[in-house]
Amino acid sequence: MGYGQSVSDKTSAVPTMKADGYYALHTAGARAVIEATRPMLLKAASHVPIALSRPLVIADYGAADGQNSGDAFRATIGCLRWRSQNVTVQVVYSDQPENDYSALFRWLHDEPPTGGGLPRSLLADLDEVYVTAVGDTFYRQVLPAESVTIGFSATAMHWLSRTPRAIPGHIHAVSAGGSVLQEFRDQARADWDTLLRHRARELVPGGFLIVANLCVDGHGRYVGNTGKANVLDTLNNVWRSLYRDGLLSDQECAAATFPQYFRTMAEIQTPFSERSSALRGQLTLVSSSTNIVRCPYAAAFQRHRNAALLADGLVPAVRSWSEGVFMIALKTKQPAERATIVDELYRRYRNLVIAKPKNHRLDYVHAYLLLRREETDGSCAT
Ligand SMILES: C[S@@+](CC[C@H](N)C(=O)[O-])C[C@H]1O[C@@H](n2cnc3c(N)ncnc32)[C@H](O)[C@@H]1O
Repeated sequence: MGYGQSVSDKTSAVPTMKADGYYALHTAGARAVIEATRPMLLKAASHVPIALSRPLVIADYGAADGQNSGDAFRATIGCLRWRSQNVTVQVVYSDQPENDYSALFRWLHDEPPTGGGLPRSLLADLDEVYVTAVGDTFYRQVLPAESVTIGFSATAMHWLSRTPRAIPGHIHAVSAGGSVLQEFRDQARADWDTLLRHRARELVPGGFLIVANLCVDGHGRYVGNTGKANVLDTLNNVWRSLYRDGLLSDQECAAATFPQYFRTMAEIQTPFSERSSALRGQLTLVSSSTNIVRCPYAAAFQRHRNAALLADGLVPAVRSWSEGVFMIALKTKQPAERATIVDELYRRYRNLVIAKPKNHRLDYVHAYLLLRREETDGSCAT
């Protein structure tokens, strides 16, 4: 199957990004989020300890097909090399076992050639850069203790370790209330503690962790909910329209639930402020802020005013991260029928965009975090 084709025959047990390089090809917005982390990556590269006796490890947690962090990592390696010309760098791409690692390695070896504004492979022209991949959940320690000098994660740690429960009438916790919301909140809190504890163990003393997490900002905004149409509500409405038209069973309709939660800044900061936190003396939150990366497709629409062109950018971008949830909900159907239904879902979404182009956009709302593993003497100066 080549780039840009529609639906894979394989259905994994957990949602993944759309395979075969589709994800990076259609997520200019997620790449812009990573560009926004560049100052933090460069700050980390300017301060981390460099030991020439062993490779310096940069780990990307929830890397998908790896391409989106390419340019920012290239700049980070440049900064490290400016400090110490001979440093050997090992980049570790980590994601769930079900992730499409062949797309990652094809990009690294430039097959097929990427181009089209996608970052160049780190292996294209950088000497003494080595790449490995780890197929394991970031809810476990995935690398040896004190082995990672710069940890990195973008747009990934809102994925929970499990789906607490189905959400009545909706696909996402953003619309949940009462005890349903509380279950997602509790899961997200436990998961955040787990994630941070493992990353703290993996970092070398003085190492940095840079995280860009989808969040709910101080104005209640979150990804796809900054203007008129709300992306998650639109997906939900279209999914339920398929149910009303008899394409889904009751069970399939209810099974589409994103195992996700967008934390508030207060929820993100809690483990660092609690006296009893296991992170005390381990990991320090150096800085935290929220920011919106504006939808590149909606911005381009302001210039070209072509609704079909807007839909051609926006709908595949939404599809790249959402399709997996619907595929799993349809897992008992034959692959061809599953493909037809999922194609229909995004065809209907596309029609909505074309009908009211000014209403549709995919802005990314993130919390940007710089964390540091404390030095063994307890100091944490930057
Ligand atoms: C939206 S993509 C982000 C990819 C890339 N970091 C970027 O910013 O473009 C989220 C990634 O997180 C991964 N992910 C979700 N849950 C995970 C887990 N428990 N362990 C490791 N990776 C996970 C997904 O498989 C997916 O590749």
